[in-house]
Amino acid sequence: MSIKYKFPENFWWGSATSGPQSEGRFNKKHDSVFDHWFDIEPEAFFNGVGPNVASNFYNSHKEDLKLIKEIGLNSFRTSIQWTRLIKDFETGEVDEDGVRFYNEVIDECIENDLLPVMNLHHFDLPVELYDKYGGWESKHVVDLFVIFARKCFELFGDRVKHWTTFNEPMVIVEGEYLYQFHYPKIVDGRKAVQVMFNLNLASAKVIEAYKEMGFHKEGGQIGIVLNLTPAYPRSNNDEDTMASNIADSYFNTSFLEPAVKGNFPKILLDILEQDGVIWQATEKELEIIKNNTVDFLGVNYYQPRRVKAKESEFDESKGWMPDKYFDNYEMPGRRMNPYRGWEIYPQCMYDIAINLRDNYDNIPWYISENGMGVEGEEKYINEYGIIEDDYRIDFYKEHLEYLHKGISEGSNCFGYHTWTPIDCWSWSNAYKNRYGFIAVDLATQKKTIKKSGRWIKEVAQNNGF
Ligand code: BG6
Repeated sequence: MSIKYKFPENFWWGSATSGPQSEGRFNKKHDSVFDHWFDIEPEAFFNGVGPNVASNFYNSHKEDLKLIKEIGLNSFRTSIQWTRLIKDFETGEVDEDGVRFYNEVIDECIENDLLPVMNLHHFDLPVELYDKYGGWESKHVVDLFVIFARKCFELFGDRVKHWTTFNEPMVIVEGEYLYQFHYPKIVDGRKAVQVMFNLNLASAKVIEAYKEMGFHKEGGQIGIVLNLTPAYPRSNNDEDTMASNIADSYFNTSFLEPAVKGNFPKILLDILEQDGVIWQATEKELEIIKNNTVDFLGVNYYQPRRVKAKESEFDESKGWMPDKYFDNYEMPGRRMNPYRGWEIYPQCMYDIAINLRDNYDNIPWYISENGMGVEGEEKYINEYGIIEDDYRIDFYKEHLEYLHKGISEGSNCFGYHTWTPIDCWSWSNAYKNRYGFIAVDLATQKKTIKKSGRWIKEVAQNNGF
C-alpha cells in the first residue's frame, strides 16, 4: 500500500475519554456536578441514561485497554476523577480504592504499550464544592484543586509523564454560567468572567506545583486541553471582522493566550474593563499566570465558529453577556453532522496548525480530540455483526489530510487523538451519538470493534495512510 500522508516519527496515534464518561459511579464516595444533576433531574438526559454505569470502565478496564491496544493505538488519555481519588477535599486525604483503581489503569496502559496521558479535570467538579463555595467562582476551590493535583503527581507521577490540567475549561464557563448545558445552569455573565479567570489561575497554580515537585527533571511534561473553535467572520467588512475578533478573544484566546504566553488578550481585557465586568485578580495571581505556562497544548477540534456583526436585539434582561458583541452566523451551504448539529469543516485543522506556528511560538501541540458522533449506528451493522462506519473513516481522513498539510508546513504537531476509543457517555446526550472505534451494547456491555477500529490500526502501523 502506498502511503500518501506520512506523519512525523513517534507520532501519537491515540484516543481520549474521561473518567466521568467511561468509568461509571461504582464505589465513588463523592458526587460530581453531573452525578448530582442526574440524580435530581434524570429526564434532562437522553433516554434517562445517566453516568451510573457509563461504559463500565471501572470494572472492565483490563479488557478495555487490551481492546484499545488491539486497534493499534500507542497512546490514551483519560482523566482522574477528583470525586473518586479524594476522600477529604480540604486535606487531600485519598480514598484507597480510588488509588488502587488509577494505579491499575496506569499500569495496564503501560503493559499494553499505551502512553498514558492523564487529565485532572473533565467537567467533574465535586458538587459539595459547588454547594459550599460556589465551585469555580471561588479561589478557595482553586487551592483545593491544587491539593488534588499534587496528590495525583505524588501518586502517579513516576509513571505518568504527560499531564493536562483541564479539558476544555471554556466549556465550564459556557455550560455552567452562560448557556445552561451544565449544572448548575446559571446565566450570569459576570460570574462567568470570574470563573474564566479562576480556571486560568487554577491551571497555572497546578503547573507551578508540578514544577516545584521537580517532575520536569524526570522527563515529565504538563499542558492543557483547549477546545479551539476558530472564529470565521461572515465577510471581511470591519463590523464582521470586529465581531469575530471579539468572539475569538472570549471563546478561544481567553485560555490560549494565558496558557501559552502567560497573559490575557488585550481586546478581551479592554471590553471587560469598559463594560465594568472585569474579574477580581491580584498582582500575585497575575504573576503566577505569567510564570507558569504550558509545556504543550492539546487541541480539541470539532467545529468552527462563524460570526457576524450584531444584528439581533441584545436581550438586556440577562445582564452582561459576550453575545452583546456578535451574532452567530449560519454559512449558506455549510456541511453538517446532522446528529450532533455541528458543522464539518476539516480545513480548520490547517488553520489551527498555522495559527499555532505563527502566533504561539510554534509550541508543541497535538490534536487531543476530533470525532464524529452518529446516532443509530446499529443500522450499519453488517452480516458479521460489525458496524461499517465508513462516514467516520472519511471524516478522519479529511481532517488528517489538512493536519498533515499544516505539519508539512512546519507546525509542531506531535499527535492525533480521536474522541473516543470506546463509545462513552456524552453528558446530557448520554449514548445518543456514538463516537467510538469500539461499539458498546448498553444492555450487555459487550464491546465490538467497528470498521474504523480496523482502519486506525493500519494507519497507526503505517504512521500514515
Ligand atoms: C468534547 C468533550 O467537548 O466533546 C467531551 O471533551 C465530549 O467530553 C466530546 O464528549 C463530544 O461532545 P458530545 O457533547 O457530543 O459528547
